[in-house]
Amino acid sequence: MVPGESPLLKSISPPAPIAVTYVARAFQIIIFVAVLVWVLLLGGVRFSPKETDPTTGANDTSGVFNWHPLLMTFSFIVGMGEAVLAFKRPLLPLPDRPARKAWHVVLHTTAILSGAFGITAAIKSHTLKRPDAIPNFYSVHSWLGLLVICLVLTQFSLGFLAYIAPKWSQPNKEAFGAVHAYLGLSTFLGGLATMLVGIQEKTTFVQAFAKPEVSAAVMRLPAFIGLCIVLYAVAVLFHHAPSAQSRNQELYIGSDGVHGLEIEEQPLHRR
Ligand code: HEM
Ligand code: HEM
Repeated sequence: MVPGESPLLKSISPPAPIAVTYVARAFQIIIFVAVLVWVLLLGGVRFSPKETDPTTGANDTSGVFNWHPLLMTFSFIVGMGEAVLAFKRPLLPLPDRPARKAWHVVLHTTAILSGAFGITAAIKSHTLKRPDAIPNFYSVHSWLGLLVICLVLTQFSLGFLAYIAPKWSQPNKEAFGAVHAYLGLSTFLGGLATMLVGIQEKTTFVQAFAKPEVSAAVMRLPAFIGLCIVLYAVAVLFHHAPSAQSRNQELYIGSDGVHGLEIEEQPLHRR
């Protein structure tokens, strides 16, 4: 058990090996730094469009757009990833559930704010484009993004109602906890999938317009980031894997109504 972790938390869910938590945090840093380097290779960030032709008023809004991958990575990889780990392995030494719950909410709020700025950057880069604005919400990626935003906001609203104000009754909170955790993990994975599609979309644009060598860093880096995102998901989800005990219990009850007591006498692998 991690120093400072309460026995109650342990009994609810046996912790993943600490090495897996280190791996998850290492991927967090690697992905964020790799996206930052990619964004720099794509020309870096700007707060306003750069005029490219004063006669036609044509401009380049890619510097405004580049905030989007950076802020969305911060939102989903750093903010939401840490929020999903907040009860099992918080980054800060938080010994009890109320402190971990507060940390969970702070991280989700940070992720939502960062995501809101990230989406605003993408929309502004489209609408400020001259001589012709680029349409909004035309791609698979943007539709997936909208779906994930709806899921995040639903999770946040229900989480707020259940656990902060007005606070549901204890039995209702307990019943809702499993649903909230399941939907939260699904939302997190949906966000990572949306990132993967967005990264591929941007890479296709770069390949079509800037025509770099296929072996150029600006083409290789997104492939590397994609692999790291999947490995990061595996490491984070490992913390939520059902214990052997709870799995065995489910299988037994499902087959013959026998309860956990018999699990020791008749382990699964002998059936
Ligand atoms: C590194 C990660 C990401 C990259 C490289 C990326 C890339 C892009 C690109 C190229 C566009 C413009 C083209 C289009 O509208 O499809 C875009 C727009 C958009 N992205 Fe992302 N994206 C990333 C992460 C995300 C995430 C995590 C979400 C939401 C969960 C998201 C939501 C959106 C939305 C809603 C738009 C539409 C904005 C508009 O139509 O003006 N993106 N993204
Ligand atoms: C005001 C907002 C929120 C509050 C007050 C809140 C509160 C909580 C609480 C009390 C738990 C523990 C539930 C239990 O074990 O019975 C929990 C777990 C969880 N929440 Fe939230 N939550 C909020 C928003 C979110 C959002 C937006 C997401 C994801 C999109 C999310 C994802 C999760 C996940 C994955 C777990 C399981 C964590 C674990 O078992 O280690 N939560 N949340």
